[in-house]
Amino acid sequence: MEMWSSVLPLLVAVSPAVLFLLQLPDYTSTQEGVWQDYKHGLQGSELNDKKHFCSWKCLLFTLQWPGAFCQSLDEETLCRIPQSVNNWTIHGLWPQKAWRCCTCWPMFESDVQELDAELKEHWPSLLKTQPSFHFWKQEWEKHGVCAACVEGMNSPLRYFQICLKLRGQFDIHKLLEDAGITPSCERPYKLVEVHQVLAPRLGDKHEIQCVTDNKGREVWFQVKIPLSHNLTVGCDHHGDADLDPATWSGPRQNSSHGHPCPPEVPFYYFPIDHQDPQRPCG
Ligand SMILES: *[C@@H]1O[C@H](CO)[C@@H](O)[C@H](O)[C@H]1NC(C)=O
Ligand SMILES: *[C@@H]1O[C@H](CO)[C@@H](O)[C@H](O)[C@H]1NC(C)=O
Ligand SMILES: *[C@@H]1O[C@H](CO)[C@@H](O)[C@H](O)[C@H]1NC(C)=O
Repeated sequence: MEMWSSVLPLLVAVSPAVLFLLQLPDYTSTQEGVWQDYKHGLQGSELNDKKHFCSWKCLLFTLQWPGAFCQSLDEETLCRIPQSVNNWTIHGLWPQKAWRCCTCWPMFESDVQELDAELKEHWPSLLKTQPSFHFWKQEWEKHGVCAACVEGMNSPLRYFQICLKLRGQFDIHKLLEDAGITPSCERPYKLVEVHQVLAPRLGDKHEIQCVTDNKGREVWFQVKIPLSHNLTVGCDHHGDADLDPATWSGPRQNSSHGHPCPPEVPFYYFPIDHQDPQRPCG
């Protein structure tokens, strides 16, 4: 019953698109199946067993470090770090192996107006060419719509609220600072030491990601945190939490994909340089 109540609003919300999709050969059988189930009042768990709907089990919550954002782009001059951005920011919340999410749920600025200030602070676009709203909209259309089969995330407003809440829960900056891990151009850090500091809060399976800068240095730019369907840390469905490149998010078309920071090479945690974000450390 609980699942059902979360499925219903989505069906209602997407129904014009469902009708539209009925005409597309590729989607016909499943969408029609869902529609039949809906008409005959099958329970949510039965829908789930058939994997028609809300098939994902794991999410990745991804935070990025603005100090190395520019280094993650192929074209470094495309970045800009606003003066107000001084902390880890949100990149996205991504259901894993989600398939056949509808691409039909548009988002408008008015949907998240009440979160605008908070989102601008914690989820800014760092691309000169991309207004922040475009970044959010892209994340919603690519990932949020897939997440929206869970009751607590079934609208743009709720999805972005959850993301902001998660950002508050994973206060990486403080965890690191308390452990003496602070941005520095001189001191590289070992993967094992950073991992030990973050694991109690982010779970054992979090991934620390680096890019290689133009001087060949490994530079920390992102953290991926696996979460369960219910947003608790970690996700056991083996394979589902695997970090696959397809989850790399749209707006950074011109970026290198990053890679897990290598265990054997210490990496840098660059300070943020608003004036010269492409060369914070020479
Ligand atoms: C980063 O954010 C945390 C709270 O999330 C805060 O305690 C810390 O002071 C911030 N750091 C900077 C440099 O603003
Ligand atoms: C959340 O989901 C996980 C995995 O499915 C489960 O082990 C855990 O007990 C759940 N936690 C809560 C608070 O529901
Ligand atoms: C970004 O990448 C696209 C192809 O993905 C390319 O056409 C474009 O020229 C690139 N832009 C820059 C500034 O590198």
